[in-house]
Amino acid sequence: MKKLITAASALTALLIMQASPAADEISAEARLAAQHVAVMTCANCHGPQGRSIVPKFPTLAGQHPKYLAAQLQAFKAQTRGDPDALGYMWGMSAPLSDDLIGALAAYYGAQTPGPGRGGDSGAIARGADIYANGVAAEGIPPCVACHGPGAVGTEEAPRLAGQHAQYLLKQLRSFQNNMRNVAVMHGVAQDLKATEMHSVAAYLQSLGGA
Ligand code: HEC
Ligand code: HEC
Repeated sequence: MKKLITAASALTALLIMQASPAADEISAEARLAAQHVAVMTCANCHGPQGRSIVPKFPTLAGQHPKYLAAQLQAFKAQTRGDPDALGYMWGMSAPLSDDLIGALAAYYGAQTPGPGRGGDSGAIARGADIYANGVAAEGIPPCVACHGPGAVGTEEAPRLAGQHAQYLLKQLRSFQNNMRNVAVMHGVAQDLKATEMHSVAAYLQSLGGA
C-alpha cells in the first residue's frame, strides 16, 4: 500500500509537469511520464509491461491504443460503471490528463502480449466454435466478425487473445446486465448462457503470442 501511495504522489508530481495537450503527437515528456507511471503505479496491478499475472486485473500488453485510451476516458468520465471499474479505475484515471492517457495507451499497445494459458480442452473447443460461428439458434453473432481472426482485435474492437478468463467472464456478465453499458456488446451478450460464456472465455485465454 505504501508503494502505491508513493507512486500516487509521483503521479501527481508528473501531472503538474504535463505540458498542454498536443494534437495527435505524443511528446517526449508524455512518453517518459507514461513509462514512469506505468512502472511505478499501473504495474502494481496490471503486471510488468502490462502482462498481468492476477486474473482479476486485465492484461494490457498489445491491446489497441485507441481502445485503451477510450477505456481510460470512460473510467475518468465514470461511464464504465462495473463495481471493479468504480473501485479500482475511477480513482486511478481521475488525475490522468488527455496527453498522459494517449501516451499510456501507446505504451501498452507497444508491449508484447504474453503466452496463452491452457484449460479444460472440451470448453476450449466449444469456445472456439462459438468464437468462429456464434450460436445461430440463440441469435449470437460470431465474435470473429468484430474481434478478428485469432482474437487479436481490430481498430473497432479490442484484442481478447490471452486475456484472463476470469476477467473476460466478468466483462461478459457486466455487458449482459448493463453495468458496463455498451449497446453493441449488450446485444451480443444478452442471450449468452453461463456455460457459453465460460467456454468462450477459456478459449480466448488459451490464445497467446502476437
Ligand atoms: C489497484 C489496482 C489497479 C491499478 C493500480 C491500476 N488498475 Fe487498471 N484496472 C484494474 C482493474 C480491477 C480493472 C478491471 C475493471 C473491471 O473489471 O471493469 C482495470 C482495468 C483497466 C483497463 C481496462 C482494460 C480493458 O481491457 O478494458 C485499463 C485500460 C486500465 N485498467 C489501465 C490502467 C492504467 C493505465 C493504470 C495506471 C495509471 C492502472 N490501470 C492502474 C486495477 C488497477
Ligand atoms: C458487432 C461487433 C462485435 C461482436 C460481434 C462482438 N464484439 Fe465484443 N466488443 C465489441 C466492441 C466494439 C467492444 C468494445 C466495447 C467498449 O467500447 O467498451 C467489445 C468488447 C468486448 C469485451 C471486453 C474486452 C475487455 O478487454 O474488457 C469482451 C470480453 C468481448 N467483447 C467479447 C466478445 C465475445 C465473446 C463475442 C462473441 C460471442 C463478441 N465479443 C462479439 C464488438 C463486438
